[in-house]
Amino acid sequence: MTPEAAMKKDHTKPKSELGGVVVLDFGGQYTQLIARRIREQQVFSAIVPCTASLEEIRSYEPAGIILSGGPSSVYDKDAPKCDPAVLGAGIPVLGICYGMQWIAKTLGGKVEPAGRREYGRADFAHDPVENGELFRGLPGKLRIWNSHGDHVLALPAGFRTTGKTENAIAAIQNREKRIHAVQFHPEVNHTEQGTAILRNFLFEVCKAAPKWGGAAFVEETTQAIARKVGSREAICALSGGVDSTVAAVLVDRAIGDRLTNVFVNTGLLRKNEFADTLKMYRERLGLRVVGVDATERFLSCLQGIADPEEKRKRIGREFIAVFAEEAERLHKEASHDIGFLVQGTLYPDVIESVSVKGPSATIKTHHNVGGLPEKMPFALIEPLRDLFKDEVRRIGRELGLPEEILVKHPFPGPGLAVRVLGEVTPGLLTTLRDADAVVREEIRAGGLYQKTWQAFAVLLPVRSVGVMGDDRTYGLTIAVRVVDSDDAMTADWSRLPFEVLERISTRIVNEVTGVTRVVYDITSKPPGTIEWE
Ligand code: XMP
Repeated sequence: MTPEAAMKKDHTKPKSELGGVVVLDFGGQYTQLIARRIREQQVFSAIVPCTASLEEIRSYEPAGIILSGGPSSVYDKDAPKCDPAVLGAGIPVLGICYGMQWIAKTLGGKVEPAGRREYGRADFAHDPVENGELFRGLPGKLRIWNSHGDHVLALPAGFRTTGKTENAIAAIQNREKRIHAVQFHPEVNHTEQGTAILRNFLFEVCKAAPKWGGAAFVEETTQAIARKVGSREAICALSGGVDSTVAAVLVDRAIGDRLTNVFVNTGLLRKNEFADTLKMYRERLGLRVVGVDATERFLSCLQGIADPEEKRKRIGREFIAVFAEEAERLHKEASHDIGFLVQGTLYPDVIESVSVKGPSATIKTHHNVGGLPEKMPFALIEPLRDLFKDEVRRIGRELGLPEEILVKHPFPGPGLAVRVLGEVTPGLLTTLRDADAVVREEIRAGGLYQKTWQAFAVLLPVRSVGVMGDDRTYGLTIAVRVVDSDDAMTADWSRLPFEVLERISTRIVNEVTGVTRVVYDITSKPPGTIEWE
């Protein structure tokens, strides 16, 4: 099969993905959150653009449909729409925010453009006796989270108001048609009982079965991979991270030794990382791994290059070249008939590429998403392409992977090259590695590793004057970056205890030659990014 054929849209779905909820995306900032909240209830959810055909929606055999929020007004000229047939398909619908306004307008109600966006907390009241399934069992008054411009003024025929805030109609339903809608966001944590509202939709309105999760996924996926690969072989590029490791272990379960993994030492990994990870892959996970030390190649292609994007591009290109050579070498060996490439692509990467807003603007080039297949004669196997990160961890646990890999902090593909600001040299890499090891050791020692999203050192090309003993120093600066985040889309700098910061600073200045100053990065994302380059 050609890669094009492998990537062609296929409406057949694995069994475990049937009977869930289809989330129609109007471009809202919380759309992924809706899907995750549903999956937390062991019900599968798929995000599709609002323009998806009814046929595509039906291919999921959904128990329910959710219409997401979105930044537009239903009155905008190019306001996103979905097929109105969605509201008459006999499938329960929940409209959220823009979803509610779109339902009201489409079915003949009246929506009023508000003067300004209503944003933040509000008090919501419903009548627990009068109301149907959506608010069943909940207190009559709830603090909810709003983020909307338009209001519903008049209801479409057959609908009634089921809840209000001080200013507006905040919940409506047509019980007979099983269409419900709320003006606020039940998926965000700030909404009291938001999860209970979503649960009511899933289990009271849609009568969905909570069957999505670990064991069934592993079994179905390994069977599907075995069928797809047949008697041929597959190759996988391991990065040391949780995604590629879980993907490789799943494929290993399916085809055993017919999977060859390649782990490349770019020379840009952290202290001892190449040797330790290789050992773990081989000894603890039993994977067949070819270790390729390409340090020299990467460092020479980075020589004299200070521009961050240029560094990323060169590393990406070099990585593809090294991997392709390795694949070709294995391919040529008589015993290997490699037809497939395994990638740890996750659901958010897939959604981004189909969202109504189109691919989001490139802020930084991420080299490990896409890129590889066009160059190589392999079909893709992406066993994680329907999963969110927390689900990958759960599957990893199900597969018996060591906890240390499951809770590992993310690490960028271009590695330490984007943390040595400016030109990368072997000497600066050693300095950064030593400082980074101190940061990570102290974060672990302080019991903070699992509480933080990422914790690392950045080497700044900034010298400053200091004094050590009786001598004047003039050394380099390390910035310590520690952030809290759920998904890396937004992040906040971690409020580390001062004692931990103090130990990090003292140890780096004492133990790392050439570094005389340590600073702590207190920029959140946005406006900053997590990495410095
Ligand atoms: P930024 O710096 O964009 O990073 O806030 C968001 C998350 O992505 C990681 N990151 C990368 N991961 N390849 C990756 O696999 C890359 O090129 C890359 N660049 C940044 C970063 O560490 C953070 O977790």
